[in-house]
Amino acid sequence: MNATLDLLRTRRSVAPHLLGEPGPTPEELEALLTIGTRVPDHGRLTPWRFLVIEGGARARIGEVIATAFLADQPQADATRVEQERKRLARAPTVVAVVSRARPHVKIPEWEQALSAGAVAMTLVIAANAMSFSTSWLTEWYAFDRRILDALGLEPDERIAGFVHIGRALEPPVERARPALADVVTRL
Ligand SMILES: Cc1cc2nc3c(=O)[nH]c(=O)nc-3n(C[C@H](O)[C@H](O)[C@H](O)COP(=O)(O)O)c2cc1C
Repeated sequence: MNATLDLLRTRRSVAPHLLGEPGPTPEELEALLTIGTRVPDHGRLTPWRFLVIEGGARARIGEVIATAFLADQPQADATRVEQERKRLARAPTVVAVVSRARPHVKIPEWEQALSAGAVAMTLVIAANAMSFSTSWLTEWYAFDRRILDALGLEPDERIAGFVHIGRALEPPVERARPALADVVTRL
């Protein structure tokens, strides 16, 4: 069977705390990001961009996440806050895919947002093809203005996902998938 089909048939996400070192080398990451840009993009607007969160940046943004969390939940205990502080430090590398969908005379914003989703999924597939495992997450901080400001997002930019990349510490187990009969209509 074709290796691409095998990968697509069997790929599973791996929870971020089960994504260990090593993450992608600079060369591998360059290749992954390049492949990630190779997606359908109606009107060639490039309505997305990447944020690479590695090394110390994971703790730096983690501090912002913990501070925002604590401001909202001052009663939270230290363990819980520490969990928030480590949000982006679970996997060796996190790539945020940022949607830059904007009003356009011809191309609907919906289509631009879908292109950003295609970027994230392409990144996931490419990373898995390179023997990494991944988790595409948003979690609460993808929607929190304080965190988005710290990440440098413009007011009309959104996080399509934080793609966590690392090596699976445990093989994932299969999960149920929808029955085709429930999702396919033949016309
Ligand atoms: C845009 C987007 C955001 C997601 N955010 C989360 C999240 O915040 N937390 C979570 O547990 N799963 C989230 N997921 C789901 C996981 O990425 C993943 O699909 C799920 O765990 C099933 O894994 P699978 O890839 O093995 O089917 C998100 C998926 C998408 C497409």
